[in-house]
Amino acid sequence: MPDDSSPGTVALGLKYARFALHTLQTNGWRRTMVNFASEIAFDLKYGTRTWLPHDLSRLETTAGSKTDGVQYQGTNPKLARRLLSQLPCESRSAHFVDYGCGKGRGLLLGIEAGFQRLTGVEFAPQLAVQGRANLARAKRLPPVQTPSIEVMDAAEYDPPPGPLVAFLYNPFRGETLERVVQNLTRHAAQSRTQLWVVYVNPQELDRFIRIGWRIDHEIQRNETLLGVILTPPMISSQSSAVAK
Ligand SMILES: C[S@@+](CC[C@H](N)C(=O)[O-])C[C@H]1O[C@@H](n2cnc3c(N)ncnc32)[C@H](O)[C@@H]1O
Repeated sequence: MPDDSSPGTVALGLKYARFALHTLQTNGWRRTMVNFASEIAFDLKYGTRTWLPHDLSRLETTAGSKTDGVQYQGTNPKLARRLLSQLPCESRSAHFVDYGCGKGRGLLLGIEAGFQRLTGVEFAPQLAVQGRANLARAKRLPPVQTPSIEVMDAAEYDPPPGPLVAFLYNPFRGETLERVVQNLTRHAAQSRTQLWVVYVNPQELDRFIRIGWRIDHEIQRNETLLGVILTPPMISSQSSAVAK
């Protein structure tokens, strides 16, 4: 599955091998195979090239902290689908924003889930180019206006007014995430609108929880939190289930 950056056959082979080894060490054989199958099936189904990770140290970025940023790696389609399916029906008319959209897999999953208005935010221009190419080449998806990808630091991004679904697949940490959390909290309070945060691999969940965001849904495996849906305090629904 060649990548758009075309680094040459040997370099590409080494890159695949390093990534495969790292994943095997982290996840073990069985889970690695299941995850690879689901990722490859995703790209085969849509004719896209979202699979290969990209190390941020080798990419140019616009303003924004590379230290806080997490390298590009497409979100696990199975897990993201499970989370997105738990959003309430009315969320489908909200604007879907993928914070740190990279090559566009999160946006493609948003289209698949039925969102009509989508935007990606990405600070690495090279990834944004690949994201746009993937959106242009994607087949078999519901017809929607092609999402735009804004090349900028997510910490500086002002979400569009109105209901919002913010999709974060562990894109950044530290101060960058802190500023995004503050912006989202302000957005919810000022526009008194509905807002859901879908946070996959929520490494710094506490940045939301300590200022009153609530978990409306969560997915866990072996005591590890794989993903959550969060809402700001004022619109958390008492009846929302916390599924495990
Ligand atoms: C783990 S990947 C997520 C990819 C995509 N959202 C998905 O679900 O497939 C993290 C992405 O966030 C981007 N990123 C990191 N820091 C950023 C920042 N400050 N502003 C915008 N994008 C950022 C990286 O370049 C990378 O593409």
